[in-house]
Amino acid sequence: MATSQEIEKNVVLLPQTNQLIGLYSIIRDQKTKRGDFVFYSDRIIRLLVEEGLNQLPVEKATIQCHGGNEYTGAKFLGKICGVSIVRAGESMEMGLRDCCRSVRIGKILIQRDEETALPKLFYEKLPEDISERYVFLLDPMLATGGSAIMAVEVLLSRGVQADRIFFLNLLAAPEGIKAFQEKYPSVKIITGGIDEKLDENKYIVPGLGDFGDRYYCI
Ligand code: PRP
Ligand code: URA
Repeated sequence: MATSQEIEKNVVLLPQTNQLIGLYSIIRDQKTKRGDFVFYSDRIIRLLVEEGLNQLPVEKATIQCHGGNEYTGAKFLGKICGVSIVRAGESMEMGLRDCCRSVRIGKILIQRDEETALPKLFYEKLPEDISERYVFLLDPMLATGGSAIMAVEVLLSRGVQADRIFFLNLLAAPEGIKAFQEKYPSVKIITGGIDEKLDENKYIVPGLGDFGDRYYCI
């Protein structure tokens, strides 16, 4: 069982700036059409990816600048890859590619049962050397936590270290954060918003509806 300190330590909430709240106000609005939903979600996704990159370990690096001057900077340690939870998680792949050129991306197809809200694993295809990488797990919604927990199980079974997994997500319910962190306290959650609760259908309240439908279909 994770202590409350560990839980707090491993949840990174993006700074709730006026800009970020403005972006969320657009994507939460049920009247927002798909074009704007995609555009403003993509802007939030970019911020999440940048924050994920901030969390990666670096080592000191000395750079030779013009005129023979030296600059002591930083260099990333290790290799990364992305893993999206299909379908909605695929919406976050481009934001990752925009920051990390030619990044490898694996896929895990998990769908929540519409009646029970329980996750079901259908398919996984991951980079061969994933156990040597830091993994950005991509899924915009953390509701009950069932899908994300199942995805982390897959990653661990492939030899990924739990403390090298960063779960990037747009909106989380407290119930999902609790379930996820109790199971995997050393996996860091990077989220843009933590909402009030889940409703009787296990949807996030106030939430934004079905992210996958709004991004791809409606
Ligand atoms: C959504 C979402 C997460 C999951 C979150 O996907 O993208 O994967 O639900 O819910 P949970 O935390 O209760 O598991 P869904 O299964 O609806 O499929 P989709 O990606 O096709 O929309
Ligand atoms: N999946 C979504 O897309 N939205 C929710 O609120 C819960 C699960």
